[in-house]
Amino acid sequence: MTEQGKQAPVALPEGKEPTLRVVPMPSDANYSGDIFGGWIMSQVDTAGSIPAAKLAGGRIVTIAVNSFLFKQPVMIGDLVSFYAEVARVGRTSITVNVEVYAQRRSLHETVKVTEATLTYVAVDDQRRPRPVAATSDA
Ligand SMILES: CC(C)(COP(=O)(O)OP(=O)(O)OC[C@H]1O[C@@H](n2cnc3c(N)ncnc32)[C@H](O)[C@@H]1OP(=O)(O)O)[C@@H](O)C(=O)NCCC(=O)NCCS
Repeated sequence: MTEQGKQAPVALPEGKEPTLRVVPMPSDANYSGDIFGGWIMSQVDTAGSIPAAKLAGGRIVTIAVNSFLFKQPVMIGDLVSFYAEVARVGRTSITVNVEVYAQRRSLHETVKVTEATLTYVAVDDQRRPRPVAATSDA
């Protein structure tokens, strides 16, 4: 952290492809121009579901947001990159870590804005939990 409490600029994770990249628009912000936390949470849930659904080989649902930290604000026009990685595979559940970086358009810098951990459950057609290994193609 810098003296002003702002995070020092960082680089995007080397050798990793973002799971999702999005540019927030003015409609994603409140009247002060700050991007809604709920918008970021929604994108994080989507990003985390991508490796979880792949590993589960089918339908999943989010059962828990285990942790969520907004380290820095997201601004309108930032290029926001979401990196999602499976952290743990249980019998029916898959826990995913998501790290989020924003590339500031105006300042030409990258900051880490969010860290989160979410858990998904593989479910069948009746929304009942099903074993991940039974259908996994990952
Ligand atoms: C997901 C759902 C089908 C699970 O049903 P359930 O009867 O609670 O299932 P279980 O108690 O067997 O738990 C299923 C798995 O979730 C895990 N789990 C349960 N509570 C958890 C929690 N608070 N945090 C992390 N994992 C949890 C269990 O450990 C289990 O994992 P495992 O099989 O790998 O050991 C049910 O809770 C559900 O439909 N929830 C709503 C999902 C949804 O609509 N999400 C969108 C939010 S609006």
